[in-house]
Amino acid sequence: MFRNTKKSALFLQFVSLAVFVALVASLLSIPVAAATTLGAAAAQSGRYFGTAISNGKLGDSAYTTIAAREFNMVTPENEMKPDATEPNQNQFNFTAGDAVYNWAISHGMKVRGHTLAWHSQQPGWMQSMSGTTLRNAMINHINGVMAHYKGKLAYWDVVNEAFNEDGTRRNSNLQGTGNDWIEVAFKTARAADPSVKLCYNDYNIENATYAKTVAVKNMIQDFKNRGVPIDCVGLQTHFTGGSSLPSNFQTTLQNFAALGVDVALTEVDVTQASTTQYQGLTQACMNVSRCVGITVWGVRDSDSWRSSEAPLLFDGSGNKKAAYTSVINALNAAPPVGPTATPARTNTPAPSSNFLTNADMESGTTNWVVNGVGTLSSDTTQFHGGAHSVKITGRTSAWNGIGQNVAVSNFPTSGQNVTVSVWVRSQTGTPTAIATLRLTASTTTYVQLASAAVNSTGWTQLTATVPVSWSGTLTGVLFYVETAAGTDNIYIDDANLHR
Ligand code: XIL
Repeated sequence: MFRNTKKSALFLQFVSLAVFVALVASLLSIPVAAATTLGAAAAQSGRYFGTAISNGKLGDSAYTTIAAREFNMVTPENEMKPDATEPNQNQFNFTAGDAVYNWAISHGMKVRGHTLAWHSQQPGWMQSMSGTTLRNAMINHINGVMAHYKGKLAYWDVVNEAFNEDGTRRNSNLQGTGNDWIEVAFKTARAADPSVKLCYNDYNIENATYAKTVAVKNMIQDFKNRGVPIDCVGLQTHFTGGSSLPSNFQTTLQNFAALGVDVALTEVDVTQASTTQYQGLTQACMNVSRCVGITVWGVRDSDSWRSSEAPLLFDGSGNKKAAYTSVINALNAAPPVGPTATPARTNTPAPSSNFLTNADMESGTTNWVVNGVGTLSSDTTQFHGGAHSVKITGRTSAWNGIGQNVAVSNFPTSGQNVTVSVWVRSQTGTPTAIATLRLTASTTTYVQLASAAVNSTGWTQLTATVPVSWSGTLTGVLFYVETAAGTDNIYIDDANLHR
């Protein structure tokens, strides 16, 4: 290739220098500059940092300056509550809600709707209602408000504060319309705007073993089992009024997330802004991948509904308090996400992201394939989360099923564990469903990942952590769900396969 040996030697020297420089650069971990606002710091790990915003304060430039600088999510403090949005029956008023919404959007922020069905802050006409009249008024209210904000919001707190401290249902006029009022609210909400994430929101559900927390967890599990749409839980995290950070807070967040919902801290305030509690609650969220963000319940202490407890991150003069520093440091220390992320070098590798794409089945049958014989369809009558599942009909053998080819590069060495979770439902039968990996190497190996009896009345989760081994060079990996026997039509949803 090189006719002139001198030139070629020079060239080789240059190449080896370049390789050396590249090697040194890749070995040196160049630290990412710490973000200097709460929103930017949270965004590094794919999360948001929000605040409650009050329409009445949008004329206060000290307030809006801090809010615009620090936050990237807004919850209207009172402006989207039932008394504000439907002051007279069937006469909706979005003036104040829109003012907060427009302020947030014009500052590049997202908005969390708060709240559609609540025992408190109901308009007078609703307070005196009961029975079918109230049930229909609730449905009409959800439809009216959600139609106005359709496609515009990131989250809606569909139902707020429906439980007592002992885990029983709060004895409100809404509860009086029948125990199913919560699921009716969520089903109505999903139909009204399929684009927004639907949340249940409550206070005193931060302690994992507290009766109220357990009751909310059971309700969400029940909703997931029966296909009632729910996407997220908001923990208000008012560590004011006598409450404080429980030591098991992270466990609580993990327990909720394990049900297949996002979690968020939605109304944070802490008595005297305790730095240890602010640090601890932020760290707990950073440690749970499905904890999507934190919202504090106001900007400055003087803006707080509990201002006498000075519970926020800025003092009345707009100065950052010590708690601000503890929060932003915890946000900045969270592992970054996205293309700049460098995997931590530890002995127990951090979990990988999901190997499956379109794993929530919301993009139709994209990326899903038939293993053997059958026909796939995107189904909207049954879904575990979101509004779609993938269904297979026309199976002729038990091993026929819904599959997805997984990149071989996700399996660097034989013998490593993978964790699977997939939700399965039968159309009419009660087969045992099996999540399987087919590994193509020097021979073809089938690894049974997880199995469970499934049925046609609810969703069943198949989940396990299993070592995956093969011999020779791995050239193909297929993940699929089959049944132990029979050819029932089955649905799958919310699949996750990771190391
Ligand atoms: C509070 C507001 O901060 C006050 O301005 C209002 O007077 C009462 O409501 N849980 C919730 C919030 O879900 O909507 C409440 O906000 C605080 C408790």
